[in-house]
Amino acid sequence: VLGGQVDVEGIARGIREGRFKKVVILTGAGISVSAGIPDFRSPNGIYSKEVGGRYGMTDPAKAFDLAQLHENPKPFFSICRDIFYPVRTGAIKPTPMHKLIRLFQEKGVLLRNYTQNIDVLESAAGIAEEKVICAHGSFASGRCMSCNRAADMEDFWQAVSINSVPQCICGSTVRPDVTFFGEGLPKRYTDHYFQDIKECDLLIVAGTSLVVYPFASLVNQVEPKTARLLINRDAVGVWKSYEEVESLREENYRDVALLGACDDGALQLVDLLGWRQDYENLNL
Ligand code: OAD
Repeated sequence: VLGGQVDVEGIARGIREGRFKKVVILTGAGISVSAGIPDFRSPNGIYSKEVGGRYGMTDPAKAFDLAQLHENPKPFFSICRDIFYPVRTGAIKPTPMHKLIRLFQEKGVLLRNYTQNIDVLESAAGIAEEKVICAHGSFASGRCMSCNRAADMEDFWQAVSINSVPQCICGSTVRPDVTFFGEGLPKRYTDHYFQDIKECDLLIVAGTSLVVYPFASLVNQVEPKTARLLINRDAVGVWKSYEEVESLREENYRDVALLGACDDGALQLVDLLGWRQDYENLNL
């Protein structure tokens, strides 16, 4: 798979030599942290006592829980205002990792970016809508929680920006089409993942703890001949098992980890690919 070169240079060589042409990139909250959006499970993440407490939540893990949204929608919409509204206004910009994904697209080798993120920074980075699957939904659309009427997202953000709960003309709360715990994944995800994962010849995983299913299971569904690269602060998923199980390490022929900040990993790959000039030319 990597011609015996089981490292990031082997991955870069495979791309440069045209052996990897159908790259699937799985992303999570860690890729947007350097833009100013906290992740979920880090000590200062959205699920931490500190951040949760700021929004009056005794159990911050419930921030994206559907039952909680029905009960008390305020904390969720305050999070929307503080964390996601700045993307809408353009105050928060895409990170080097988003730009790298954009370059994979420009070079014609991006099969798909499956993101767990709802910040839509992919769109700000110029990644085409058809190349992105928002596996946990997004703020691109919304609807009334009672009558199901499609939301006007201008009105939605207007309400959020003044820290009120967006309301439908029927008087009920309007929610964005993000996936809350207790809900199924969007149709676009179920329609595409099987074929994409089968075709994928290089899998890149970045900025995710890989603990939320079914998303995390995509990593194990690629073909045995598919190379896999992790760009993340911590070793997660199969890459974590390499740390723990020596026999796995000895048999490894396709898995590479670039541990550290996503931005550093992305830039290292940009350089190894010889894409630095294209990167600098991206006008975002
Ligand atoms: P997590 O917060 O669980 O994981 C973020 C990962 O990114 C961790 O492994 C961090 O170590 C890593 N990380 C953070 N900052 C980083 C940086 N600057 N550079 C490199 N790595 C960094 O976030 P997700 O895996 O995205 O679901 O969480 C998955 C899902 O859990 C979310 O989509 C959300 C949440 O519940 C729903 O809301 C449905």
